Amino acid sequence: MGKTEVEFGGQRAKEIAMSGPGPKSMSGPVKGIPIAVVGGGFVGLVTAAGFAQFGHAVVCIENNEERLKKLQSGHVPFYERDLEKLISENLHNGRLSFTNDLEAAVDGQKAIFIAVGTPSAADGRADLGALGTIAESLASVLTSDQVIVIKSTVPVGTGKSIQAVFSENGHSKNPIAVVNAPEFLREGNAVQDFFHPHRIVLGGTSTEAVELVKHIYRLGMTDPVPIITTNNETAELIKYSSNAFLAMKIGFINELAGLCDSTGIDVLEVARAMGMDGRIGPEFLDPGPGWGGSCFRKDLSELTGLASSLDHTLLIARAVLSANEQHHRYVVEKARKLIGSLDGATIGVLGLAFKANTSDMRDSPAIPIINELLDAGAKVQAYDPQAMEEARSIIPNVSCVDSAIDVAAEADCLLILTEWQEFQMLDLSKMAKMMATPNIVDTRNLLVPEVAKRHGFNYVSMGQA
Ligand code: UGA
Repeated sequence: MGKTEVEFGGQRAKEIAMSGPGPKSMSGPVKGIPIAVVGGGFVGLVTAAGFAQFGHAVVCIENNEERLKKLQSGHVPFYERDLEKLISENLHNGRLSFTNDLEAAVDGQKAIFIAVGTPSAADGRADLGALGTIAESLASVLTSDQVIVIKSTVPVGTGKSIQAVFSENGHSKNPIAVVNAPEFLREGNAVQDFFHPHRIVLGGTSTEAVELVKHIYRLGMTDPVPIITTNNETAELIKYSSNAFLAMKIGFINELAGLCDSTGIDVLEVARAMGMDGRIGPEFLDPGPGWGGSCFRKDLSELTGLASSLDHTLLIARAVLSANEQHHRYVVEKARKLIGSLDGATIGVLGLAFKANTSDMRDSPAIPIINELLDAGAKVQAYDPQAMEEARSIIPNVSCVDSAIDVAAEADCLLILTEWQEFQMLDLSKMAKMMATPNIVDTRNLLVPEVAKRHGFNYVSMGQA
C-alpha cells in the first residue's frame, strides 16, 4: 500500500459491505467486530463508545483504578458533551465494557486500537513511553490474525517501529499488522465529530488489515465520508500537518486582529470575506486569546523537532509557536492599556478552559495570560463553567469564584478568555455596577460591542472596530 487512495465510505459503502464478503478475515454475514481500545482518555473513550454505538463489541482498557471505577459505573472523569450518555447507553446494552486487564482483554479481539497519550518530552519531541510499554506487553500475547491500530498521534516512523517490536517477539514469519488511524476529533465536539468525520485516514502495509479497519468504520457511518488509505508514515505526517496548519490559520487571524485594532477595520468582516474563497475556507478564522489545548503546541513541537533532526528547518511552523506566545502578551497589553496600570488592579477572568464545552485546561491560553497578569501585580478572580476543579491546582494564586457574575466584584477589568455560551447571557448592567471601573476585554468577540457599551462598559474586542 504505497500509494495514497481515496474512496467514499458511508451509507452506500455500508450497504455494499453488508451484502459483500467483508474483509477477508471474516466469513458469513457482516456483523459487529470484537475490538479492544487501550486507553480510557479522551480519544480512547470516544472511540470505544462510538464503535460500540456502531454495533461492535468493545472492551476498553484503563489502568488508572479511580478512573476505571468511574467508567464502569457509567461516569466520565471529565466534561465532554454527550459522551457520558453514549458510554452509559452502551454499557447498559452490553456492547461496551471496561477493564484494567490488558492481556485478558485483547484475547480474541480482531482489532486492538491504541489511544494512549504521547505528551511532549523535555526535548519537545513526543514521549512514546506509554505506547512502547503497551506494545511490549502485547507482543507476547497477540496472534497474527489480530491487527494493531494506532489512534495516538505518533511521530513519523512509529508505526513501523511498533511493527518491529512484534517481529522481534517471535512474529517475524506471520507479522502482526500495524495500521495508523490518526484521530481528528475536536474536544467539546468529539462525539459529533466521531459520527461525522471530515475524512478517515488509514496507513498500513497490509491490505487485509487496512480493509478490516475500513470495515469497522463503515459499519456505522451514515454520511459519505472519504477514506484515505496510504502508508504508515504518510498517515502519521497527515495528522501533524493538519494540526500545524490549523494552528497557523488561527495564528494568522489573531495577528491580523492586532492589525485591525490599529487600523479600525473589523477583522470579522475581513475573515468572513476571506473564508468565502474555497481555497481558504471559513473555519478556524475566529480570533481569540491564542490557540491552546493538549495538541497544537505538542504537535508543532514534534514536527519542528523532526525537521531539525533531519537538518531541515520549518520556519513557518516555528513562527506559529512564537506568534502564539506573543499573542498572549498582546491580550495582557489590551487590559493594561484600558486600565492604565496592572499593579494592584483586580482582573475578573471569564473562562479558563482552552475552549468552550470542555473542562480541559491543558495548555489553555488562560494560564500564561493569568500568570503574566499576576507577575504585573494584578489580583485575579476567575470563573469557568466546567474547569474550576482543574483550575484550583493549575493556577493556585487565583481566587476561584462560584459564578460568572462574582468575577465582577470590585474588578477593574473583565477579561473573557473562553467562548462559553453562558457568557453571552451575562447581566451586564449588574456587573458594571459591581465593578470598580466597568472595563471589559472580550478576546473571543463574544458580546455585541454596542450592547456592552450601552450597559456602561468600556469595551475592547479582538480586532473589531
Ligand atoms: C485539535 C484539532 O482541531 C483536531 O482535529 C485534533 O484531533 C485535535 O486537536 C487533536 O490532535 O487531538 P482541539 O485541540 O480539541 O482539536 O481543539 P480545536 O477546536 O482545534 O481548538 C484548538 C484551539 O484553537 C482552542 O484553543 C480554540 O479556542 C482555538 N481556536 C479554534 C481559535 O482561537 N479560533 C478558531 O477559529 C478555532
